[in-house]
Amino acid sequence: MTQWWRDAVVYQIYPRSFADGNGDGTGDFAGALARLPYLAELGVDAVWFSPFYPSPLADGGYDVADYCDVDPRFGTLADFDTFVAAAAGHGIRVIVDIVPNHCSSAHPAFQAALAAEPGSPERDLFIFRDAPNNWQSLFGGPAWTQTPDGQWYLHLFDSSQPDWNWANPAVPAMFEKVLRFWLDRGVAGLRVDVAHGLFKDPELPDVPDPTPSDRPSPWFHRPELVAHYATWRAILDSYPEDVFPGRRTAVGEFWGDEITHLEPYFIPGGMPQAFNFFLFQTAWDAAALRHTITASIALAEGSDVVAPWVISNHDVMRPVSRYGAPAPARSDAEVDVALGTRRARAAALLLLALPGSAYVYQGEELGLPEFLDIPAADRDDPVYRRSQGARLGRDGCRVPIPWSGTAQPYGFTEGTATWLPQPSGWGSLTVEAQLADPSSTLALYREAIAGRPAGEFAWLDGYDLAFTRGEDFACVLNLGAEPVPLPAHESVLLASGTITDDVLPQDTAVWLRLR
Ligand code: GLC
Repeated sequence: MTQWWRDAVVYQIYPRSFADGNGDGTGDFAGALARLPYLAELGVDAVWFSPFYPSPLADGGYDVADYCDVDPRFGTLADFDTFVAAAAGHGIRVIVDIVPNHCSSAHPAFQAALAAEPGSPERDLFIFRDAPNNWQSLFGGPAWTQTPDGQWYLHLFDSSQPDWNWANPAVPAMFEKVLRFWLDRGVAGLRVDVAHGLFKDPELPDVPDPTPSDRPSPWFHRPELVAHYATWRAILDSYPEDVFPGRRTAVGEFWGDEITHLEPYFIPGGMPQAFNFFLFQTAWDAAALRHTITASIALAEGSDVVAPWVISNHDVMRPVSRYGAPAPARSDAEVDVALGTRRARAAALLLLALPGSAYVYQGEELGLPEFLDIPAADRDDPVYRRSQGARLGRDGCRVPIPWSGTAQPYGFTEGTATWLPQPSGWGSLTVEAQLADPSSTLALYREAIAGRPAGEFAWLDGYDLAFTRGEDFACVLNLGAEPVPLPAHESVLLASGTITDDVLPQDTAVWLRLR
């Protein structure tokens, strides 16, 4: 059966910030439905929705209070079904986000656990102990919070996100129902949040260095995960074809400090896809990128698991700002937007020429910079709060999308205010403005998605960062300080900047048809 997801382009929608259909300043399904033609013209194969479930939105919806419904701020289940059907009409599949490591403290099961006695079955759905250990939350501060009766519960993230106890069989049983609920509604796949979490060392040992990291630890990359995801793969594979040909899929959010940390997941019958975050963790340096790409390709070789490429998502600084500053910037003034934009456009041609699937995060195709100067009072990310501002958090990449016009709210909403403020000066970055400009970043993404190469990947010798796909396609990047002459070619298919006299300028990428 076809494995459509092996080379798909998937567009990530962060629902609060994609498009608002009811004028309240927060995105929703009605807004997304109205923008489906935009996604169809962009040429994506699928959309992945970050969580839209009932939630206090303490962590943007990754704090789920009910896994099988839609938060009224985003619409209704009927609106979701309408979107899925309409998307299918455009040939676009829908992927939903499953959050199995933790829920919201507002989830009825956690409320019941708080109301129940220490040692009760209700508490055993979570990780309650009489005393905390020294684990730290990934969002800053301790990973334990005390309840009024003196017990403590574990939360790897915010205190409003208690971790489920995956050693209790009731938890996997519940999640199986959640998976089936969405698969039965016709979703093509699942994105699995914190896929390297879930199981914890039952001893809950203190660790020598509690600084949060993504390496194997008593809370991440536990050996139980591999067999566990094989059971999810079996569920996916048990679904027959529906309106779309091929199998359902899942993509795991597996972070690692090193590529080798992901090796255990690349086994036959494992979760079909494991995100490869190493491309955006790699500096703008040809040798480093070559190394990452070679290691990433080797990781998936000989396994039926694929590792989609990513240069941005809702958790990391937008490429323009990342590539446009020598060190992680903390204010807009520190970013050279022209430089960052040049590099981000080159990175886009790299992303879309590599073999396999690619995920594009909303606004990446517009070349939006991070909005770093969000006033403190408007910041929403718990990372900012829990670190007392030491970490700015992720609000800057979650700013509502500019669709049209020259001033806020840039066509995002019929209302006046947006849930997070937008910066001034984004008039030239709106969808409307970029559709009218054949040299825009949006135009580049549309052409690149339409013209993605196929065929065997091979490095092209003689260049810092160049490769071929099949017999007659080459992608060449110039990350060096000097312009470089292009290899012999029949034609230039696409370029991220202006090419004259067959010379590739600095920080530019090109797709070539070879002779
Ligand atoms: C994942 C999500 C992130 C969220 C975290 C906790 O990393 O991508 O946005 O904050 O999980 O759920």
